[in-house]
Amino acid sequence: MRLTREQAAAKVMVALDKPDAETALRLADALHGTGCWMKVGMELFYAAGPSVVRELKARGFKVFLDLKMHDIPNTVRGGARSITRLGVDMFNVHAAGGSAMMGAAMQGVEDALGEGDADEKPIVIAVTQLTSTSLAVLNEEIGIAGTVEQAVVNYAKLAASAGLRGVVASPLEVEAIKLACGPEFLTVTPGIRPRGSDIGDQSRITTPGDAVRGGTDYLVIGRPITGAPDPAVSLQSILEEMSAS
Ligand code: C5P
Repeated sequence: MRLTREQAAAKVMVALDKPDAETALRLADALHGTGCWMKVGMELFYAAGPSVVRELKARGFKVFLDLKMHDIPNTVRGGARSITRLGVDMFNVHAAGGSAMMGAAMQGVEDALGEGDADEKPIVIAVTQLTSTSLAVLNEEIGIAGTVEQAVVNYAKLAASAGLRGVVASPLEVEAIKLACGPEFLTVTPGIRPRGSDIGDQSRITTPGDAVRGGTDYLVIGRPITGAPDPAVSLQSILEEMSAS
């Protein structure tokens, strides 16, 4: 099924990896009205704090807060409660923290909702294996045996059993994840590179068109848009590629 431009835009999460609120909001304003999500990660959040999330929400963007929490369950529960109160639409934890930690994140969401401090229930997803991780790094540095895909699927199954709605993974692993966890289990995929663009530090990559054809639910795209001379033009050509898939 072909995507309309609106459907394509609703699947794109622009990684606002910028060092200050002013630069990030200027970029967001350039993409206003397109219907895409904004992803706030460590670089921006640690510099600008919760107010930048509120600014983006006030502008009507859906926000994915990508802070990849990984700590003891009690701390993650408190973190998830604070994030839910902030009103984000999606946030994440590391699956490597285990099922008790992921369950604590879900509990933190319920805490905030139960206290009446939040209106919306955010989608909670787990990071599986970072898309910058190669097989050699997985096996030799991190010490996990087997293929990257096996590690990712194990993490995805763990996240699903802990009640999370989906995972962050490479687009190359979407088929295996959907097979293991069901078609409704969400896949959020960074490592997207339009043909001819710079790979940067990503390792397991694919094009926007191939990601859509592979069944990805959300495409996280940073530097190909945020580093382009005209980010809005770059986004439009990515949307065209997605809706031609
Ligand atoms: O610039 P680029 O398109 O590589 O940005 C990808 C974004 O997705 C970055 O913000 C990065 O932190 C994030 N990400 C990732 N791999 C993961 C999880 C998140 O690249 N597994």
